[in-house]
Amino acid sequence: MHLSLTAVLFAASVLAQTPPSSSPFTKNNLGASYKNATIFPGVWVDPNYISSQPHFYATDNQKHEPDDQSKYMIMMLDLNIPDSDVTTAADYDTLVPGLAANTTTRLHWWGGNYTLGRHGLYLNSSDALAEYTAPRPRDATNHTYTLYLFDQPESYVPPKAVLNGTLYSQTSEARFNFTLAPIVKEVGRPLAATYFLSNNV
Ligand SMILES: *[C@@H]1O[C@H](CO)[C@@H](O)[C@H](O)[C@H]1NC(C)=O
Ligand SMILES: *[C@@H]1O[C@H](CO)[C@@H](O)[C@H](O)[C@H]1NC(C)=O
Ligand SMILES: *[C@@H]1O[C@H](CO)[C@@H](O)[C@H](O)[C@H]1NC(C)=O
Ligand SMILES: *[C@@H]1O[C@H](CO)[C@@H](O)[C@H](O)[C@H]1NC(C)=O
Ligand SMILES: *[C@@H]1O[C@H](CO)[C@@H](O)[C@H](O)[C@H]1NC(C)=O
Ligand SMILES: *[C@@H]1O[C@H](CO)[C@@H](O)[C@H](O)[C@H]1NC(C)=O
Ligand SMILES: *[C@@H]1O[C@H](CO)[C@@H](O)[C@H](O)[C@H]1NC(C)=O
Repeated sequence: MHLSLTAVLFAASVLAQTPPSSSPFTKNNLGASYKNATIFPGVWVDPNYISSQPHFYATDNQKHEPDDQSKYMIMMLDLNIPDSDVTTAADYDTLVPGLAANTTTRLHWWGGNYTLGRHGLYLNSSDALAEYTAPRPRDATNHTYTLYLFDQPESYVPPKAVLNGTLYSQTSEARFNFTLAPIVKEVGRPLAATYFLSNNV
């Protein structure tokens, strides 16, 4: 094998697949692709290519086993929402931190009941808990969109308010300042992740 390719594969297997200094963290890569764009950690994607939800699939660290009934959840968050879009300066320190100073988060997508299909593609069997919202970055600043794959234990029941549709509307205020902490507490750290950048060009 060519040396530089070996180096790239080695790097990909040990580096975080979540954005630097973000939490939660994982070293496992999640495959994801839009019709016109394949996602790998840190890639920039044309905002015109992300209008409908991507497919996501297993890479080296997730394996399809024929009788496996395991279920998974997908979540996508913007980690670069200006605090000023959400609240006033007096409340900035209450916000779930984003990647940069004075930024917070926004939930773009939360789907459950995915299983890993024979061809390595994750397939769902129920409507999303928060349907996919196309990223629409408003300015030239790059936003970081992170996709997380979580385990969905058999006993997992989404919060009542979520089942009630609190997050379903694409424009729900409840999608801002979104924290993964309670989810991580219930189902564990992400099994895999990836992220991309996009801005208004
Ligand atoms: C993919 O790219 C083609 C050519 O630029 C464009 O016409 C099409 O709308 C794009 N499709 C999506 C889903 O972004
Ligand atoms: C963050 O917001 C606070 C309150 O408005 C402000 O004092 C501070 O300078 C801001 N920090 C940065 C890095 O923009
Ligand atoms: C942001 O979310 C955190 C964690 O859920 C919460 O404690 C805080 O009150 C929220 N802040 C605002 C301004 O909604
Ligand atoms: C999984 O599907 C069941 C049946 O449709 C539904 O009640 C449950 O809320 C879904 N769970 C998740 C995490 O989407
Ligand atoms: C999978 O989720 C999408 C988005 O919520 C939904 O439109 C679609 O009907 C679901 N697929 C199945 C087989 O339920
Ligand atoms: C956005 O990210 C891309 C890819 O890293 C970079 O080329 C571009 O300069 C960035 N844009 C801004 C305004 O920082
Ligand atoms: C969910 O909706 C039902 C019926 O509208 C309501 O009685 C209940 O209080 C709601 N629960 C939450 C947690 O929003």
